[in-house]
Amino acid sequence: MPMKYSRASAPAKVILFGEHFVVNGSRAIATALDLPTVATAIEKASWPLEIESTSLGLRCVTGPELTCSSRELEPLLSIIRALRSRDYDVPPARLTVESDIPPSAGLGSSASASAAAAAALTALAGQDIDPEELFEVTMEGERVAHGNPSGVDPATVVYGGTIVFRRGQGVLERLQGGLSVPLVVADSGLRRSTAAPVLNVLKFLDRVGPLRVSLLGLVEQLIDLAWSAIRGNQLEDIGALMNINHGLLSAIGVSTPELEELVYAARRAGALGAKLTGAGWGGSIIAITRPGEAERVAAALTSRSSWVRVLDGGAPGTRVIKVNP
Ligand code: PMV
Repeated sequence: MPMKYSRASAPAKVILFGEHFVVNGSRAIATALDLPTVATAIEKASWPLEIESTSLGLRCVTGPELTCSSRELEPLLSIIRALRSRDYDVPPARLTVESDIPPSAGLGSSASASAAAAAALTALAGQDIDPEELFEVTMEGERVAHGNPSGVDPATVVYGGTIVFRRGQGVLERLQGGLSVPLVVADSGLRRSTAAPVLNVLKFLDRVGPLRVSLLGLVEQLIDLAWSAIRGNQLEDIGALMNINHGLLSAIGVSTPELEELVYAARRAGALGAKLTGAGWGGSIIAITRPGEAERVAAALTSRSSWVRVLDGGAPGTRVIKVNP
């Protein structure tokens, strides 16, 4: 009899506006990228459970106690624990997670892996998981990966489309699709943890006293303007607001010379706006261009980045692709 297997996919994400500030109470806007993680779960007759991440080049074999020697695979173990604690049956399986999303680059690789894995494992057990619960389970993986996540990454990869998100309240608004033009995404190649810059910003905002409230209020205004520019397809306005957002991220100390160089190179090449995306201190930048100009701007970044892509936003959220038989 053929082995039963299931396959699920989850998108990457970029934060268009509001990273870091979203950890501290204001909203953020993020979009799902057309760059999937695919998780395949193959039934096994008995333990151990096998987990492999091809993008991380890591593998783990564990019994029911769920332990792995590699820390990077810990988020996947924690989503299995989270599924079990919610009474999902997670039978022994071989779980493979494949993705072209660069890890630790601000593109949601860990949330995407967790969401795809949880969807594949529940599908293998013949159980439905609704997006609210998938979000909660993916959040458990993010807590292990990042320490103090706002939830914007799991929400974006689970629901897909383009969302306005607030910590503790979840998705406030959602567009099915993305922007009318693709985004230019360039990875600086500098790897970093999300937890360290997040902690640094927390301390920074405490240090600046009453300015904290002003900055968070400014971001709230920025989000209102950005959401209306996105809905109205006002590309020049979106670009200008991205530039302001980047300035704020530099001001709170999460940019680096490498990210600044990429941002300025994109602007020099004609981008309407460019900013770092995600936690900063490395990771990626995004740029928005006039229609038909993304490839040209991307080409201008290749001398500074070995990973430049032109990607559509507004990709679908996490979904089961196949269950067999
Ligand atoms: O892990 P990253 O680089 O995608 O950053 C997530 C965005 C932050 O706002 C910095 C953290 C969070 O949990 O919202």
